[in-house]
Amino acid sequence: MSTQNNKPNVTLTTLRNIKQRGEKFACLTAYDACFASILSRAGVDLLLVGDSLGMVLQGHDSTLPVTMEDMIYHTHCVKRGNQGALLMADLPFMSYASEAQTLENAAALMRAGAHIVKLEGGAWIANSGKLLAERGIPVCAHMGLTPQSVNRIGGFHVQGRDPKQAQAIVEEALLLQEAGASLLLLECVPRELAKKVTESLDIPVIGIGAGPDTTAQIMVLHDVLGISPISPKFVKNFLLDSTNGIPGAIENYVKAVKEQSFPAAEHCFN
Ligand code: KIV
Repeated sequence: MSTQNNKPNVTLTTLRNIKQRGEKFACLTAYDACFASILSRAGVDLLLVGDSLGMVLQGHDSTLPVTMEDMIYHTHCVKRGNQGALLMADLPFMSYASEAQTLENAAALMRAGAHIVKLEGGAWIANSGKLLAERGIPVCAHMGLTPQSVNRIGGFHVQGRDPKQAQAIVEEALLLQEAGASLLLLECVPRELAKKVTESLDIPVIGIGAGPDTTAQIMVLHDVLGISPISPKFVKNFLLDSTNGIPGAIENYVKAVKEQSFPAAEHCFN
């Protein structure tokens, strides 16, 4: 089946094939129908209804206040505008604390239109990942900087700089793949570590602040448009060089990811 713009729908098989061909795919966050339409028509392969909406839309200083109701509402909105991208939705803080909650909340996101759900954590989410995968709900495991744990981590810092922590990330990523994860997202880790994880896994790895060697890149929409109040090192404003406003900026982002000119050295942690 294809969508109105005749672009075939992106599935997990599409993403696995991209990885096998040694190519890259482009992902962005989306929170509403209008942007979902612009982004998917500009060639973004995967739209994430991220719990970052708590910060960029709701104005909180972390993602912790985001509720299941918020996630379901925004997933519905993005689904209506999406033109063929794979739609991933975040399970928000404490919505996967027990097995029953995990199943019920993941099912609610799938009913709202998600094709895959994302959970933050390492080895401790392996059981949840397995439960969901066995029941037909694909899972993306989010490792490295996990914003739902910002209070335990003590800030939004680069993870995996210490060799012991880096080794734990590699081992836990393998464990999550073994448990049935279909995708892995790595946030804010040194480029060398992201490369090692990507080469160790069979599943596609999506990076943010993780250097150019992951299978895919993801950014927060407001960051690529330069409208976030803060701009971390790994962010690039693609609107600055666009000759066609927002659609042009998104097309430039997709092109830069696929041609591997983004992220450049200045966007990486070493
Ligand atoms: O919630 C979100 O937007 C995310 C990205 C930072 C990848 O998880």
